[in-house]
Amino acid sequence: MEVVIRPDEAAAARLVGRIIARELRANPHLVLGLATGRTMEAVYQLLAQMRRKERLDFSLCRTFNLDEYVGLAPEDRGSYRYYMNQHLFRKVNIDPRNTHLPDGLAQDLEAQCERYEQRIQRSGGIDLQLLGLGQAGHIGFNEPLSALRSRTRVKMLTPTTIHQNAPGFGGPGQVPRRAITMGVGTILDCRRLLLLATGSEKADIVAKAVEGPITAMISATALQLHPRCTVVVDDAAASQLQGADYYRWIFANEPEWEEFR
Ligand code: GLP
Repeated sequence: MEVVIRPDEAAAARLVGRIIARELRANPHLVLGLATGRTMEAVYQLLAQMRRKERLDFSLCRTFNLDEYVGLAPEDRGSYRYYMNQHLFRKVNIDPRNTHLPDGLAQDLEAQCERYEQRIQRSGGIDLQLLGLGQAGHIGFNEPLSALRSRTRVKMLTPTTIHQNAPGFGGPGQVPRRAITMGVGTILDCRRLLLLATGSEKADIVAKAVEGPITAMISATALQLHPRCTVVVDDAAASQLQGADYYRWIFANEPEWEEFR
């Protein structure tokens, strides 16, 4: 795992945007895993800007989102499909047929989860998966006690997550109780992982995810098992990391990071 600490939220998002753009330029057929949440909005804004100003090309790219709420239609403003359309898909030249999210309205949810896994497999697997970090330590919606080898399935959301995501719904009472999410095992199968977390309210969980013991109680700790995982944080989210000075030293000296400094 590599941890990159940037001075503020904008710089952290910019680094993530530049890493995605670099991978997309190197491989126009990139299979890109996407995440939602407030943290990602800055990244998508940047990608849209790179489309406008630098003609960054999404025409051959295929995307798979981590998760979707059960029971919400694509046009529902709370759905992740709606979020993705608003923040990214409408603003870049991606073919909507190449964008995939689990179908939260599927009659047979179990079959839908299986189909999602198969679709990922048929696309050749995810090259680069973008991840946010929930306050309960989840990646996707892999809530506490998610099996570290879990695959795409329906998960019940924790009260912490429901409260965290309530602002988008006009109150916790309106937040769906269940979601379809890629499993921890599905995420670990991706070729590269890129997690972005910013703000002081994430400092405690970032430290646990990066430096704490691996536990199913905090699914983000499973990222420590991945051979190619980059965690990008701002100073505020890095404030409880014991190894912060060392991570900063690596970023300043590692030749691989030269073009991003
Ligand atoms: C939701 C998503 C997660 C995401 C989290 C972070 O719970 N399912 O994948 O990591 O939000 O949200 P925010 O960026 O708003 O803190």
